[in-house]
Amino acid sequence: MKRSINAVYPGSFDPITNGHIYIAERAAALFDEVVVSVLLNPQKKAAFSVEERKAMAREALSHLPNVKVDSFSGLLVDFLRQEQSRIIIRGLRALSDFEYEFQLALMNRQLAPEIETLFIVTEARYSYLSSHAVKEIYQFGGAVHEMVPPGVFRRLRERFPLPRNILP
Ligand code: PNS
Repeated sequence: MKRSINAVYPGSFDPITNGHIYIAERAAALFDEVVVSVLLNPQKKAAFSVEERKAMAREALSHLPNVKVDSFSGLLVDFLRQEQSRIIIRGLRALSDFEYEFQLALMNRQLAPEIETLFIVTEARYSYLSSHAVKEIYQFGGAVHEMVPPGVFRRLRERFPLPRNILP
């Protein structure tokens, strides 16, 4: 009997961007199930609550039937064990991501040697994209509607209403 393989794609997703969606789509094409898991970290100040981030991710990934959205707190490897998964998916944008990601992957391997981190390289058009940049650009009146799904754009407008004279 064929064994089903599931992977976990963790992150802050504050909020989910088109770059994250691209990685989730590619992971969904490789694995039977992908759990996109939003980190609940009370120490890190987030723009959106975990429930909001989950709702935005669910909406943005609803076209992927084998992707589910969840959240976790504490150690990522504990969440993987709970999900009976041995694969962490992370997206790589540029060389600048590498050092942090390498450290994270090695730390997780130290904690749980049976778990593997797999990197999916983004597409060139998303290589500059981050949740942080989206929030910053939006708050200074820049156009971000091509960087995030419509549900995220709507929530950004609700959360950070801009003066009328500023785009978008
Ligand atoms: O989207 P992000 O903020 O780059 O995601 C980082 C994340 C959530 C993958 C990472 O911070 C994480 O796994 N945190 C959980 C705590 C943990 O397991 N730490 C041990 C590895 S350093």
